[in-house]
Amino acid sequence: SQVGAESDWRTANTESMKSTFSEENGYELIFDDAQQKQENQLTAIRNFIQQEVDYILLAPVTETGWDTVLQEAKDADIPVIIVDRMVDVSDDSLYTTWIGTDSLLEGRKAAEWLNAYTTAKGIDAKDVNIVDIQGTIGSTAQIGRSKGLEEGVDNYGWNLLAQQSGEFTQAKGQEVMESFLKSYDDIDVVICENDNEAFGAIDAIKAAGKTCGPEGDIIVVSFDSVKAAFESMIAGDLNATFECNPLHGPRVAEIIQKLEKGEEVEKIQYVDEAYFDTSMDLEEILKTRAY
Ligand code: AHR
Repeated sequence: SQVGAESDWRTANTESMKSTFSEENGYELIFDDAQQKQENQLTAIRNFIQQEVDYILLAPVTETGWDTVLQEAKDADIPVIIVDRMVDVSDDSLYTTWIGTDSLLEGRKAAEWLNAYTTAKGIDAKDVNIVDIQGTIGSTAQIGRSKGLEEGVDNYGWNLLAQQSGEFTQAKGQEVMESFLKSYDDIDVVICENDNEAFGAIDAIKAAGKTCGPEGDIIVVSFDSVKAAFESMIAGDLNATFECNPLHGPRVAEIIQKLEKGEEVEKIQYVDEAYFDTSMDLEEILKTRAY
């Protein structure tokens, strides 16, 4: 059960799952697009249990609220593999394994980058005014990225003017940035908790007659590192993007193959990730990007 088509990242993640778990590869995939709603995911999981599937793969919208349905899957002896975002459950035997990215590490890396960038420009930390367009509230990606930024605010003494969810979509990212720009005329940095929010925020900045990117009024930082983010950095709009790798299909297939052989799998598996900014040879890196 997938979150929905909220971002380029999500499209790449869905594609990775569908191309891996194809009939050609010997799988029967029942795919459910939950449209970013947990209640749709709960219904989908109950349908999967009724259909007596062999495995349930869940990319949870938010972290909480899974205990009951995961207990139902456990009672039915169906292993549940959690992908990308985490679940916060009282008993971790309710799922078999989790594979995804370390969102708190991503947030911390972004804060370190911002500190290095503003310091190199000779900007005093107390003069750095930040707004944060958050992801879907209660999702692992939002919790980790917001926390990484908040730690940076505490450590370095920046001013966090406002935080509001852009629900990981471009349209909402634009709307939230428009409202931030109306409320504050001294924004130096916008942290967008995914690339699509950044694309919306950049449109809002330009529509307000301001500029952004390395030569502009406002520093724009985002997460995911989709191809369009590289294009945005090359165009001089986006400053930096912190990678969140969506290509989980083959990794999940490997887990399933191990489970089929009766082998142990690790409970928590993090994926290695990089970051990219305009100091790099982005044209060359873009040629190597798979999503
Ligand atoms: O959980 C991963 C996040 O969800 C990605 O950053 C975002 O683009 C997606 O929709």
